[in-house]
Amino acid sequence: MANDFEKHIASVKDFPNKGIIFRDITPVLQDGKLFQAATHKLAEYVKSKNADIIVGPEARGFIVGCPVATELGIGFVPARKPHKLPREVERASYDLEYGSNSLEIHKDAIKPGQRVVVCDDLLATAGTLRACKQLIENLGGELVGSCFYIELPDLKGKEKLPGLDVFSLVKYH
Ligand code: PRP
Ligand code: ADE
Repeated sequence: MANDFEKHIASVKDFPNKGIIFRDITPVLQDGKLFQAATHKLAEYVKSKNADIIVGPEARGFIVGCPVATELGIGFVPARKPHKLPREVERASYDLEYGSNSLEIHKDAIKPGQRVVVCDDLLATAGTLRACKQLIENLGGELVGSCFYIELPDLKGKEKLPGLDVFSLVKYH
């Protein structure tokens, strides 16, 4: 699967900024069997963590995380860019490989003691993942793992979250 999967990821030089190689997952999504296989692999991981709920950061985390949640019959919590959620929110700010942003989740989205896994397409600097962890923990949840289609280990994201388990389908060096 990993080989086939890697073949379907498009690498785009200098997008969105010079010096960045953008790893585009949309060709994977267009291939129904591959999208399903990738979803299934992540679902196996989330199940092994005994998670109660998945958090997915906007926007690609929605695409990756929602089908995993439905496969397992567990809930999904969107972590959204600012001013999109209509009720009371918790907010965290973070830096990216190519910029900075904030994420928000509804204050009642996670119940104290819930076991949470973050699902997203890609782990780079881990700014997004750290912001999710802060949001989850501020609401009393426990971040028990994280899973991605792609990991960029050279950006050392994992080192910024010592002790957190990270699962990915492919790594790019
Ligand atoms: C991308 C990607 C991850 C994040 C990874 O999202 O989908 O969420 O960056 O980078 P990090 O590990 O350095 O935080 P982006 O913020 O570009 O938003 P998008 O999904 O709306 O394109
Ligand atoms: N998010 C952060 N870095 C990225 C990259 N190189 N490709 C796609 N999404 C990203």
